[in-house]
Amino acid sequence: METIYEKITADNKKNDEIIAKAVDIIKNGGLVAFPTETVYGLGGNALNSESSKKIYQAKGRPSDNPLIVHIGNIGQIDGIAEEFPEKAKALADKFWPGPLTMVLKKKPCVPLETTGGLGTVAVRMPAHKTAKMLLSSGLYIAAPSANTSGKPSPTKGSYVYEDLNGRIDMIIEDDTVNIGVESTIIDMTREVPTLLRPGHISREDIEKVIGHIDVDETIAGIENYKKVDENTKPLAPGMMYRHYAPDASLALVDSENKGGKSVVEHITKLALEDISNNRKTVILTTDENTDIYKKLMSEANVSDESILFTKCTDFFKTLSDISNNILIYVVSLGNRGELSSIEQNLFMGLRLCNDIGAESIYSETFDTDNQGLAVMNRLIKAAGDKIIKV
Ligand code: TXA
Ligand code: MG
Repeated sequence: METIYEKITADNKKNDEIIAKAVDIIKNGGLVAFPTETVYGLGGNALNSESSKKIYQAKGRPSDNPLIVHIGNIGQIDGIAEEFPEKAKALADKFWPGPLTMVLKKKPCVPLETTGGLGTVAVRMPAHKTAKMLLSSGLYIAAPSANTSGKPSPTKGSYVYEDLNGRIDMIIEDDTVNIGVESTIIDMTREVPTLLRPGHISREDIEKVIGHIDVDETIAGIENYKKVDENTKPLAPGMMYRHYAPDASLALVDSENKGGKSVVEHITKLALEDISNNRKTVILTTDENTDIYKKLMSEANVSDESILFTKCTDFFKTLSDISNNILIYVVSLGNRGELSSIEQNLFMGLRLCNDIGAESIYSETFDTDNQGLAVMNRLIKAAGDKIIKV
């Protein structure tokens, strides 16, 4: 299949035409990848079971993993949900449009193909301007993250292209995706609303609006979380699957003091062992620690030609100039003091490891309050629970 690739930019006179084309494709049962403020989504008509089947096929995703239905205005809730509880209304008032998904009782018109066989439907009203333009058509758009199943969710049009070109009808690029991790999911059908996936809107943010919420015990990153296995299933089916994984193995190096001195020293030691075995290594760190690695690496006589220090966000601008002789890439994901910068760049950091053919990857860890839980949740899953305590 030929995939149409279009860019939305502030001065593109064709913007309206692009959106009209996309709406047309979705109405006719086709698939369009589009940006949201969290990550890119792969959109199809949520009320058409054939479209949902196509989404699973294009992503290579198991069909028992339900899709999020995106809406453009609050009036649409009534068309797909049996109930909209008071607490859900309060959360919608506060956080919609935005990166929050609420699980509600579904109406019969929502096909089981869309909800992975469940009697509930996950609903989100995105805030991204391009997503809003698409949704102003009144369509209900089912959209999982627009990656091949298992890979990090795409935060750039080029990643969507890499994963889905030739498999879907259209990709709309608009690289103003600025949150970087997928939406927070909360199940509003339970006696006590329950967090199913942490995101930019934190547990603390939600509790300020509706009081105490429960947290699914399988959420990686919470204290004493239960690892998912035969007997322990997450409430959001998608949280069960291996996720976000870069090609090389990723290990998290953790200590009481997150990203502290003992962590930096241990990561340096591991990276030095790797380069002595000629293995390409990526260290995922933050702006605060970059100079400490510089000092330790220079004390260990690592030559300037074999090491690159870069910010995640600058890396792609210089990708073509980067020498093949580099063995250690020290990549800053952002600022530890400003967790939203880490959220924003995390998936880019994980994809970058594949782009340079990393053979081993080490990352520091983060405190899990506020947005830290969303970051640690993705990191732990990407690492397949490989955590080294120092
Ligand atoms: O930010 C986002 O949420 C992005 C953008 C595109 O909106 N979408 C996204 O979709 O991350 P996806 O399919 O990659 O993740 C959806 C998650 C899965 O873990 C799925 O199991 C869960 O939501 N989910 C969907 N419907 C559910 C339901 N009815 N009950 C419980 N979990 C549900
Ligand atoms: Mg996903």
